[in-house]
Amino acid sequence: MDFKIIHLNSVDSTNTYLDNLAKKGYPHGTVVVADTQTAGRGRFRRQWFSPPGRNIYMSILVRPERTKRELSDFSVLPMLAGIACAKAIRSVTGLSVGLKWPNDILLEEKKLGGILVESRIEHPSTASSNTGLTASFIIGIGINVNMKREDLPEDIKDIAISLFMVTGREFLREVLIEGIIREFFRLYEEFIAQGKGYIISEWQSMSSTIGRRVRCLLPDGREVKGNAIAVYENGYLLVERDGGVIEIIKAGDVFHYSS
Ligand code: BTN
Repeated sequence: MDFKIIHLNSVDSTNTYLDNLAKKGYPHGTVVVADTQTAGRGRFRRQWFSPPGRNIYMSILVRPERTKRELSDFSVLPMLAGIACAKAIRSVTGLSVGLKWPNDILLEEKKLGGILVESRIEHPSTASSNTGLTASFIIGIGINVNMKREDLPEDIKDIAISLFMVTGREFLREVLIEGIIREFFRLYEEFIAQGKGYIISEWQSMSSTIGRRVRCLLPDGREVKGNAIAVYENGYLLVERDGGVIEIIKAGDVFHYSS
């Protein structure tokens, strides 16, 4: 798979920058990498801490044109990106990196990275048919690589971690970036060939959420506690409450209880 990387020193957000390129017609496989972001963002419009020279901030453009997959199948893209990151990081560092629902990359139960997928349907009237499917997906990936504990702002000191903080070693970001992109497009081709079930089972086997006792904070403020039993076909998390009621978690934050 051919990809083209655009390197930037500083940008507001690699996702915003790449979305503008997508509007101009840039092709599938365009990747934007920045050394720092002035307005990096995470899920639920949270700020993504993006100091210069230390971490990975990148976005990948996916244009699923002329495929046999339905638009709704692309809901697995955040999971696909999570698997790609975990595999690439494992192979470069040897560390056992995990995945937390919906799309956090974990190391020693702390947040090593996150994924923010943003999409735009270009022709909604024809988007649901295979032939007229015109959408673009921006896969935003942030990974804490060489950041030191003292670099971290107070509010995330106890929840964030970097590869350096665990190993005491600095890693070449370019090597990780290349590994992530290659793994991403390898998995993407598997997904196009085999469907979303392949990605969901890969994700479940690498995830540290499935089989754990969890607390879920939903966007409406509701809280659900129980055992995370599986990921449903469109990426939803199934949680079994004490007493046996199964809750379908579509969005929110999940916290693992220590095992
Ligand atoms: C999250 O866990 O909330 C998702 C974080 C995603 C951060 C990355 S950094 C590169 C890309 N550009 C952004 O503005 N956000 C994503």
